[in-house]
Amino acid sequence: MKEGVQMPEIIDLLDKSRIKELLRQFSDAFGTSVILLDKNEDLLFTFPENMHHTDLMKEPVYLRDSIVGYVGIPKADNPPRSSLCFIGRNMTEIIGMGFEVDSLSGEVAKNYEELSLLRSLSTRLGAALNVDKICNELADEVMNFCPSKNVSILLRSDMLADTLSTSYIVGSKNLVPESRKTMLFTKVALGAYSSSASMMSLSTDRGLLKHAFDKKEPLTVCDVSADERFEGFTYPVSRLLIVPLIVEDSFIGAIVATDKLDGEEFFSTEIKLLFSIASYCAISIKKALLYDGIRSLLFSTAEAFSLTIEAKDVYTYGHSKRVSDIAAEIFKELGLPPEIINWIRLAALLHDIGKIGTPENILNKKGRLDIHEMDMVKQHPLSGAKMIEQIPMLRDLSQWILHHHERYDGSGYPSRLSGDSIPMPSRVIAIADVFDALTSDRSYRKAYTKGEALKIMRESLGKELDPVLFGYFEKIVSLLP
Ligand SMILES: [Fe+2]
Repeated sequence: MKEGVQMPEIIDLLDKSRIKELLRQFSDAFGTSVILLDKNEDLLFTFPENMHHTDLMKEPVYLRDSIVGYVGIPKADNPPRSSLCFIGRNMTEIIGMGFEVDSLSGEVAKNYEELSLLRSLSTRLGAALNVDKICNELADEVMNFCPSKNVSILLRSDMLADTLSTSYIVGSKNLVPESRKTMLFTKVALGAYSSSASMMSLSTDRGLLKHAFDKKEPLTVCDVSADERFEGFTYPVSRLLIVPLIVEDSFIGAIVATDKLDGEEFFSTEIKLLFSIASYCAISIKKALLYDGIRSLLFSTAEAFSLTIEAKDVYTYGHSKRVSDIAAEIFKELGLPPEIINWIRLAALLHDIGKIGTPENILNKKGRLDIHEMDMVKQHPLSGAKMIEQIPMLRDLSQWILHHHERYDGSGYPSRLSGDSIPMPSRVIAIADVFDALTSDRSYRKAYTKGEALKIMRESLGKELDPVLFGYFEKIVSLLP
């Protein structure tokens, strides 16, 4: 219940029949009529009902130190003053308790609403480590909770750039130009002006954003035309709410909502709830950004490794990267989610990493390898798998690498697995591996054309290669250079 509450509202809150019953009990206990007045001394209730009174002894009734009304007893009843004091005190206590209960109920309801929103968000986000997903879910939730003409999620520009997010991870924040830290770019925009809003960038070193970030709290403006701090918006705005996304005392972005569809202003309860959601999501966004940075670092390192190994042989330079790109396209064609595609991309990038232990003279030998040399080359899937197994985050990939030279008919190595018992990613890598090998120059032959390579591969279906997965490869082969 709001402050400045009046007695009639208190009576509604406590229930009229209970107030009347209370007056009856006072009346019975002290053998006198009892009257309840509001703070202007206008009559509210009497007991007995409809009694006439003229001259009253009155005692104030308080709520949080303010007089909200009076209890009175007719002087004609000749009551002791102590009776009236007792009634006044009791009425004050009862009203105070009712008010506190109501406030607590309101608080519980608000907390419940806040928890429900957070629960809904956490269910939808799960353990999401994808910045796009988190921002989309956040924008959706804000739009559902507070339908507005536009809801945007903006993030700091230095956090959106891959290379810079990597420098953020390794703690070289100072390398990021200050100007990049003060620009926010729209990551997601929903609503009537989404296309215009999605192109918008705002500076945090001036205007309303500066104010919100300096204060580290939400900011609402009822009429932006009357606020000289308003600037930079590319679409019509009248009412505005900015909720900063803050993690560990530093901002990473903001939620911006404009003009509620019901025409009302943004209420303090809504702002408080959105601030709670923003705090929750800011942590998730930061975690996702860190994860993106680590992943980016991992991919760059893996690529650098594969290129280092391939640098020994001019004919295979870039092979792993091309195999990785082809395998990723096949996985996309299979309809697998981006997270899984990233793993296959990485596994394909590292599939020949075991060759780091293969002597250079064998790798570069012109002409046929003898049995001993061939045995050494055949060690590379096992060596690679053992290396990758040492990295807990990549342990699952080691099996894919281990089996990339198995053949569909069971005549491959190292385990002579066949058909579906070969991990599916290994069968995909095998297809990409063979295609790239056939379409690349070798010391002993020129590269086959795409058509010639496909013809050769088709002849090996069911023997070396998985015929079903090859069907998916054929669908994407036209995309390849
Ligand atoms: Fe290999």
